[in-house]
Amino acid sequence: MQKQALLYAGKAKSVFKTDDPDLYVMEFRNDTSAFDGAKKAQLERKGEVNNRINTFIMERLAEAGIPVHLVERLDATHALVRRLEMLPLECVVRNVAAGSLCRRLGVEEGRTLTPPTFELFLKNDELHDPFVNRSHALAFGWADESQLDEMERLTLKANDVLSRLFDEAGMKLVDYKLEFGISEGQMLLGDEFSPDGCRIWDKATGEKMDKDRFRQDLGDVIGFYEEVARRLGVPLEG
Ligand code: TMP
Ligand code: ASP
Repeated sequence: MQKQALLYAGKAKSVFKTDDPDLYVMEFRNDTSAFDGAKKAQLERKGEVNNRINTFIMERLAEAGIPVHLVERLDATHALVRRLEMLPLECVVRNVAAGSLCRRLGVEEGRTLTPPTFELFLKNDELHDPFVNRSHALAFGWADESQLDEMERLTLKANDVLSRLFDEAGMKLVDYKLEFGISEGQMLLGDEFSPDGCRIWDKATGEKMDKDRFRQDLGDVIGFYEEVARRLGVPLEG
C-alpha cells in the first residue's frame, strides 16, 4: 500500500491517503512535543520505537476484543490504519495519581487510585486540552450517550489488559490516554498507544520510563522507551 497525499500532520505523527479511500498510512515521526507544543525536540529512533510498541499493544488489545484501527505495520515508521471519523475527546484512565490530576486536586504523585479514574479531555491545543465532562460532550455534540458509554467501556477494558501486561513485565501502568473514532458505524480505537501518551514506572524502583522523561528533562528518553519495548517483548529490529 503506497502512501499518497499528506492529509494531516500532527505534533508527532502524520497521516497520508492511500489508493483505498478507507485506508490511511500513519507515520510515526521523531518529532517530540510536550505542554501542547511549547516544548519540542527531535529524538532519534522515537518514530520507529513507538511504531513497534504501538503495533504490539494494538495487537494485544485486538486479541482481547477491543476493535482497533491498526491494520498492520508497514515498515520502520509507517503503519496502515482504517480511516476513522475521530471524536474530539481524549479518554484518560489513571491507576496512580500523577500529572494534571495532582495539580488539579492537590494530591501527591504516587497515590494509588482504587477504582481507577476515567476522565475526558477536549482535544484542543489552543485551550490546552481542557478537562470536560459527559454533559459538555452531549451539549456540544462531541459524542452521544452510546458513544460515551462505549468509549468508557473500551478504555476501562483496555486497562485490565494493559495493566496486567505491564505488571508482568515489571512495570506499573500509571495512566494513559486513548482516542476513538467511528468507521462504518463502529467505534474503533484510533491514534496510538506508546510511551508518548501514557505514564509507565519501573515497578521496583519507581523510575519514570515514559514521556515525563522529556517533559521533566530526566534524560535518555528513547533509551527508556526501548527498555519498555524490551521488557514487553516487542522486537526492536526486523
Ligand atoms: P495528564 O496528567 O497531563 O492529564 O495526562 C494523563 C495521561 O494522558 C498521561 O499519560 C499523558 C496522556 N495525555 C496525552 O498523551 N495527551 C493529552 O493531550 C492528554 C490530556 C493526556
Ligand atoms: N501531547 C501534548 C503535546 O505534545 C501534551 C503533552 O504531552 O505534554 O504537547
